[in-house]
Amino acid sequence: MMIEVEIVPALNDNYIYIIHNKTKFLTSVLDPGDPDPVIKKLKEKNWQLNQIINTHHHFDHTDGNDKLIEMYNAELVAPVYDNQRINGVHLNVSDKDVIEIAGTSSNVIFTPGHTSGHICFYLNDEKILFSGDTLFNLGCGRVFEGSMEQMQDSLKKIINLPDETEVYCGHEYTLSNAKFCLSLQPNNIEIKKKYDEIVKKRNNNQFTVPFKLGEQKLLNPFLQFDNKDFIKTMNLNEKTETEIFEYLRNKKDNF
Ligand SMILES: [Fe+2]
Repeated sequence: MMIEVEIVPALNDNYIYIIHNKTKFLTSVLDPGDPDPVIKKLKEKNWQLNQIINTHHHFDHTDGNDKLIEMYNAELVAPVYDNQRINGVHLNVSDKDVIEIAGTSSNVIFTPGHTSGHICFYLNDEKILFSGDTLFNLGCGRVFEGSMEQMQDSLKKIINLPDETEVYCGHEYTLSNAKFCLSLQPNNIEIKKKYDEIVKKRNNNQFTVPFKLGEQKLLNPFLQFDNKDFIKTMNLNEKTETEIFEYLRNKKDNF
């Protein structure tokens, strides 16, 4: 693989990602909510920063933009839908655009719901997805600006990607998500196994990113809206797909 992803934990529970192309010696950073740990890591690696990319306008994903642009003269790529809410953008991107991230071809996927302008980035050759605050390990983002239906449609776009896709998401929420999963299906052996694995990882201060998309298709409750067994166990037969999603999202919001 010519692409290397450095995971930089930041703020309370954010993940910033530094994406480095070992062949072309190009480096991008995704969602720098805090510039300082990024600068530290770049110095440690002796990498120059070429590009900054944002998934959405929230401060914990964008607050480091200005300082990094100033220091490295890096190009800022952000969703066109957030044009009024992110400053200093050099390249506005929208759904289905193909751009280069650290010199590798990447698709822009419009995924509104968490915010109205949210986008994800999929690195085609590496099968890497940066999902921002749309898909989390065993969960999904809160629906702040879009409708439940929009968020569900965004997740449906994501699950069209290959099972072996490695997903890098915006927050370390996995333990709380695993607890929620187990509360929904306390008798599900696969969920219990995953829960134990997550508890162990977090006790050892290990990251729970990246994670495989295929596994999420099986275990993430927000992706089970058409899973007959899940619907039966949860007594959701009377509900539409969107009502199931809405029910789960509201339940998690109050968990
Ligand atoms: Fe966010």
